[in-house]
Amino acid sequence: LRKFAVIGNPVAHSRSPFIHQAFAAQTGMSLVYDRLCAPLDNFAGTVKHFFADGGVGLNVTVPFKEQAWQTAQDGLSERARVAGAVNTLWMQDGQLKGCNTDGIGLLNDLERQGQNLAGKRILLVGAGGAAKGVVLPLLETGCARLHVVNRTVEKATALQTAMTDAAPRYTASLSAGGLDSAEGHWDIIINATSSSIDDKAPALKGAHFAPNALGYDMFYATRPTAFMRWAKDAGAAQVCDGLGMLVGQAAVSFQIWNGVLPDVAPVLAALRAQLH
Ligand code: ATR
Repeated sequence: LRKFAVIGNPVAHSRSPFIHQAFAAQTGMSLVYDRLCAPLDNFAGTVKHFFADGGVGLNVTVPFKEQAWQTAQDGLSERARVAGAVNTLWMQDGQLKGCNTDGIGLLNDLERQGQNLAGKRILLVGAGGAAKGVVLPLLETGCARLHVVNRTVEKATALQTAMTDAAPRYTASLSAGGLDSAEGHWDIIINATSSSIDDKAPALKGAHFAPNALGYDMFYATRPTAFMRWAKDAGAAQVCDGLGMLVGQAAVSFQIWNGVLPDVAPVLAALRAQLH
């Protein structure tokens, strides 16, 4: 059987094995998909061993997405190179390849919810691995403005600089600052911070939702996250968690490895039912 895994630390909570087994069942494939907990100081060695042992593909999760980018340095897709973070690894012609499917997963999920991003004002909160993966795909939608804010200002401005160096055509629509620069009326506010893990929402002073706006938390839990509760109170017409993005990014990884793009909807519904 072809062997896959999600690599992270911790990784016990990961839903990826369920999602990929569901995709496999849907497309009539048989595969093994495990959870691989890598020591914090030996990500690269664990990856090397997995592939030497005949593994076919790895999904990378917290906190290794930036290290995965380093490890696959000579085999990065354009998207992954610009993102500075990798969530999908595989071997091709003896070389380790890396891609980032988080951005497509997010865009597919937004589309599924009827969101057209062209001309929209988007506020992206966070500047870590999760945020990095979605900046270029968001800019490519033709949004009017993408403002990235982060608790540590330097990380937000560094992300902006890296992005404008890599894709200078977006200089005009991309800006960055601290959480206190979130002021304004936004059509979409996306939470890419990990604050929901502690059931906290980032403090976004002066950030307002425009009419018909969406509050999107990349995080998900068994109940609405702190960010989703804040967004609802702050007047967002629609709020959602990141479960659709999770299944969406997995679908594109599955396609890279197996050559077939599975249907997200039934797997998302099954996963949602499990969480309740
Ligand atoms: P990930 O890969 O999930 O992005 P990360 O690289 O550790 O993980 O980044 C975590 C992000 O969440 C960062 O943007 C972090 O802000 P800092 O750069 O200032 O650390 C943000 N974050 C975590 N907890 C937060 C909180 N309570 N309030 C605001 N931002 C928070």
